[in-house]
Amino acid sequence: MKKRIFSGAQPTGQLHIGNYLGALKNWVALQDEYEAFYCIVNLHAITLPQDPKTLRQKTLDLARIYLAAGVDPQRSTIFIQSDVPEHTELAWVLSCIARMGELERMTQFKDKGKGNAERAGVGLFTYPILMASDILLYQTDLVPVGQDQKQHLELSRDLAERFNRGYGDTFTVPEPYIPKAGASIKSLQDPEKKMSKSDDNANGSIFLLDDPDTVTKKIKRAVTDSGTTIEFDESRPAINNLLTIFQLLTGKSADECTEHFRGKGYGDFKSELAEATVEFLRPFQDRVREFDDEALIGILHPGAEKARTIASDTLGSVYKSMGL
Ligand code: TYM
Repeated sequence: MKKRIFSGAQPTGQLHIGNYLGALKNWVALQDEYEAFYCIVNLHAITLPQDPKTLRQKTLDLARIYLAAGVDPQRSTIFIQSDVPEHTELAWVLSCIARMGELERMTQFKDKGKGNAERAGVGLFTYPILMASDILLYQTDLVPVGQDQKQHLELSRDLAERFNRGYGDTFTVPEPYIPKAGASIKSLQDPEKKMSKSDDNANGSIFLLDDPDTVTKKIKRAVTDSGTTIEFDESRPAINNLLTIFQLLTGKSADECTEHFRGKGYGDFKSELAEATVEFLRPFQDRVREFDDEALIGILHPGAEKARTIASDTLGSVYKSMGL
């Protein structure tokens, strides 16, 4: 039997090259070796206010992006989180074994709640429990995510282990899959900050649906560090970040990149990076346009049905072992 992977992304904001390089690219690479479930986590999206019409649209748009990135519905199951009610049912059970203290330590809550716990939504606080539920329902072995989700993954593992200790072996304890290169792509405007969907400064992110002119302008405006050489250097986060993007988009090794840019300066480098990005995005964007709503429904409905068969099995064992 193949081992199983589960991952997801929120249908909020616009997906950027960080989401692709940190997560989606690996989803595609892993789908042969693993039985894969890729979810559009719309219930996570409502932890912050969303316009209903926009959310519905973005949910379908995100399915298009999964498909255009190369997630193959013949091999992987793609579905919408709210189509599988077991996610919220298991989340309730897990919230009864999770501890306030461990949720209070989640850095993403502190960031997104802007440090104001009094005003922050309860859903934003309990969000990592819903995420654990997503993962544990599918008896997931591996979860491909970017670095920013590592802490949530650790909580998922802790909850699985605690449940197994208390009620008998029920859940597979998932391992994170965090790529060596690309796990935390940084903002083009501030290499100390991760590239983020919710960044107010759109110049910091290359969005997957940006047109060639916009991409080229953003790359030309990207901040650089002191120093003129184009090479990987831990002490120069800006060039490190830009070179990582180049490396992952072109498939070259780190050494090949360094060799390629030896003796060249920022002008040449930025032109080549812009070209590589545009060349990657062009066919990707063509594929995004290929899927109409009807085609998507034809993928998402059977996806949810397949997901439910597994999710309801797991939930059934959970209820049984708890005496529910
Ligand atoms: P989300 O929607 O914020 O991001 C989707 C994926 O993109 C990764 N990512 C990045 N990778 C590299 N560099 C960046 N700058 C960058 N920004 C984002 C994220 O790590 C993620 O893998 N909570 C999750 C969604 C979720 C989930 C799950 C994931 C809900 N349930 C279960 C895995 C398993 C989130 O908000 O991702």
